[in-house]
Amino acid sequence: MFVNNSDKDIGKEIAALEALNYVHSKMVIGLGTGSTAKIFVDLLSQKYFKENLNIKVLATSSSTELQSKKLGLPITSIDCVDYIDLTIDGADEVDSDLNLLKGGGGALLQEKIVASYSKRMIVIVDNSKVVSKLGKFPLPIEIVKFGSKGTQKHIENTLLKLGYSDFSIKLRKENDDYFVTDEKHFILDLSLKKITDPYTLDMQIKKVVGVVETGLFINMANSVIIGNDDGSFKLIEREG
Ligand code: 5RP
Repeated sequence: MFVNNSDKDIGKEIAALEALNYVHSKMVIGLGTGSTAKIFVDLLSQKYFKENLNIKVLATSSSTELQSKKLGLPITSIDCVDYIDLTIDGADEVDSDLNLLKGGGGALLQEKIVASYSKRMIVIVDNSKVVSKLGKFPLPIEIVKFGSKGTQKHIENTLLKLGYSDFSIKLRKENDDYFVTDEKHFILDLSLKKITDPYTLDMQIKKVVGVVETGLFINMANSVIIGNDDGSFKLIEREG
């Protein structure tokens, strides 16, 4: 079972293929956003029709929902379920504690809500996403539009208080306009180079009025499947 992606996507596809093994009938499956999640959704639709699976899927973004609809997957909504059995999502970075930096695709808020409803979250990445410390990839922060300039200033002050001095922060743009999330918010991309304490950073940024969520997913992933270009993969499971 393969989806015709380019050679550079082999690691993503291997991880997505392995994640399929965790999908069983009678499950509600949370579907992530991004290129790796997109591969998984393609593969899941093949498995769904081939095995006549009795599942429901719940998308973390309008783009994943559109893809799922086009593929004929049975979609449900977050308000129709008490919990999600399994969520499969990608990440921009994964550290050795299985903490994640997410939101490169701008879907971090819905991804975090879906992950928090999930009994199990499996993250699928190629090996380029594995880092010793999070933060090389700019951290997305979802903020409300109202007062966005002031919110940015307050986040900068929080960072200085936390001891970060060498950082840049900017509102994400798309084409010539500001990027707007599915929930109609803005995204600030924060380049810190290295995040020393992801938990504290997440907590302190979220105290700023106007901040909705950050792309730091602390203690949320249960397992990470890392796909390699040579066709092998590694499964890392959270202890406890
Ligand atoms: C979207 C995300 C994605 O999971 C993350 O950006 C990884 O994307 P890709 O699989 O395309 O590298 O958090 O908001």
